[in-house]
Amino acid sequence: EVFENSYQASALVAEEIAQLIKDKQEKGENCVLGLATGSSPIKVYEELVRMHREEGLSFSNVITFNLDEYYPMSKDNHQSYHYFMHQHLFDHIDIKPENVHIPDGKVLLDEVHQYCIDYEMKIKEHGGLDFQLLGIGRTGHVGFNEPGSHYNSGTRIITLDHLTRSDAASDFNGIENVPKRAITMGIGTILKAKRIVLLGWGHKKAEIIKDTVEGEITSNVPATYLQQHKNTTFILDYEAASEL
Ligand code: GLP
Repeated sequence: EVFENSYQASALVAEEIAQLIKDKQEKGENCVLGLATGSSPIKVYEELVRMHREEGLSFSNVITFNLDEYYPMSKDNHQSYHYFMHQHLFDHIDIKPENVHIPDGKVLLDEVHQYCIDYEMKIKEHGGLDFQLLGIGRTGHVGFNEPGSHYNSGTRIITLDHLTRSDAASDFNGIENVPKRAITMGIGTILKAKRIVLLGWGHKKAEIIKDTVEGEITSNVPATYLQQHKNTTFILDYEAASEL
């Protein structure tokens, strides 16, 4: 779906998430959201915060799992995805702290493997992801599933692509400060979500959006695996859709 601008589009996505939360509330059920970082989802989070403040939207039945975190990375570092999520969403809504899950970038290296298995298990125990929000990196990654990621991959530690690190360089004051690794949910984890919405804004994303939507399904562009998911929508602005 293509929109004139990302404001309009983000409001629509926030509306869908809010409706899902309310539907689940009515049934007395939890709503399990998979959340993303990066600049793409910021307006969706702003709109959800506005709905909480002005319309009384409650997040008391919401359980969240974030896609990824840099490794190594401490939670209080301003470049961490922990910091980002609290700054843009969690500090402004009534979500229970115990319902927030973000991969821990400080897990000891020899404990990461088990940590990732447990993270995957926790998602399962909560009944799986009802809704997964995604951005897309210019390598075709979703979460931090870089080229070469298997369609069946689970949560794990990965090595970041050079292009991904150079895109993050400005946030870290130079590419040399960007962590070389990250913990990410897998492609398999993401594809199990009941509903997926991917956001793409601006010219910078036009080429990878074309490859993802129209290209053959390949691990070289991990986002192409979304073509096989039954309930995925790409929400784009004109610029990101310009090569389609
Ligand atoms: C990072 C994140 C991704 C995100 C991507 C795009 O690599 N791990 O989840 O989709 O950046 O970021 P942006 O939305 O800022 O373009």
